[in-house]
Amino acid sequence: MGDRTFARAMAAVREYRASRTIPEDLLGKGGMDESLAQITDGLDKLFAILDHSKYKARAAPVQTRTHTMAVSERFTLCRDENVVGLTLRRVDGGDVPPWHPGSHLDLVLPSGRRRQYSLCGDPLEKDAYSIAVRLVPDGGGGSAEMHTLEVGDRLSVTGPRNAFPFYASGSALFVAGGIGITAIIPMVRRARALGMDWHLVYSGRSRQSMPFLDEVSTWDQERVTVRTDDVDGLPTAADLLRHAPDGGSVYCCGPPPMLALVREGVPATGATRLHYERFSPPPVVAGSPFSVELASSGTVLDVAADRTALDVIREVVPGVPYSCRQGFCGTCKVKVLAGAPEHRDRRLADDEREDYMLICVSRSAGERLTLDL
Ligand code: FES
Repeated sequence: MGDRTFARAMAAVREYRASRTIPEDLLGKGGMDESLAQITDGLDKLFAILDHSKYKARAAPVQTRTHTMAVSERFTLCRDENVVGLTLRRVDGGDVPPWHPGSHLDLVLPSGRRRQYSLCGDPLEKDAYSIAVRLVPDGGGGSAEMHTLEVGDRLSVTGPRNAFPFYASGSALFVAGGIGITAIIPMVRRARALGMDWHLVYSGRSRQSMPFLDEVSTWDQERVTVRTDDVDGLPTAADLLRHAPDGGSVYCCGPPPMLALVREGVPATGATRLHYERFSPPPVVAGSPFSVELASSGTVLDVAADRTALDVIREVVPGVPYSCRQGFCGTCKVKVLAGAPEHRDRRLADDEREDYMLICVSRSAGERLTLDL
């Protein structure tokens, strides 16, 4: 290996250790390749061994970087005006950490709420990030707060992190549902730029509610299927997967019913890989009812088999912190004072599991837990 290639390789390793994002091709080509992605997976294992820790595919400790950023642009992204686009820049004027399609940011909002948003801008833009946020009126307040942000407002931004990497080779079917397009659109742009064989299925409630339609309408329409519930009805697996490529990949980001259709349907297609990302929590599966006692007040709450402790606790403690609601960010970690948790997360280290739990996904192995809340 020549000196320059070795230097590039070491730089790629440093970048990967810092951000867990897959670096560009070592030889400087425009895209990353799948073999390099496999090498980074190997590096994860190697680093875990060096750190004397056990390798867990999705729970490797993530080293992140945090910056104070300010809103520099604010714009509306769809006709019903319920999706706002925000451009964020560092307040010290520096470059932002690099990112690749599929990455997201962890934001701390002015209220202290933590939320995660996919990056939907141009990775080549070195000094700004772009995100898009759909207003969810009956949500936890995070999207409503994001919609109140004005140019100049500041946020604490950590990341980027990439739990949904795009392997820019071969053929790909992209399936996006609603605001899930934010994770998918940088992948499609990259696929177009590389001349890949691709197809996009973009589904939403109505055209008025779907962001980025103006851009999508400029692409080769033979490679694009836009469908809306108000005209076409709810999509079936066949609607979503009709263009799944033989020997290629399917990338999906959308609401739980869409993900369920795609996950069940892909094995019947010729596609060999499915990559997906959720933007809302999965339904509770195989849960048993239990109760939680909040130690500070003595309040006892019943958690039904199909609900999470977080959802029930939020009804009486609206400010309880949370973010991903999928058991990987760690924001909802709570000390367990009595009882035995049934851990369902991908985040806690083994030595944390006796005393703590993530209440967004984990449950109780017995009838009652007492929590330090
Ligand atoms: S909210 Fe992210 S782990 Fe619970």
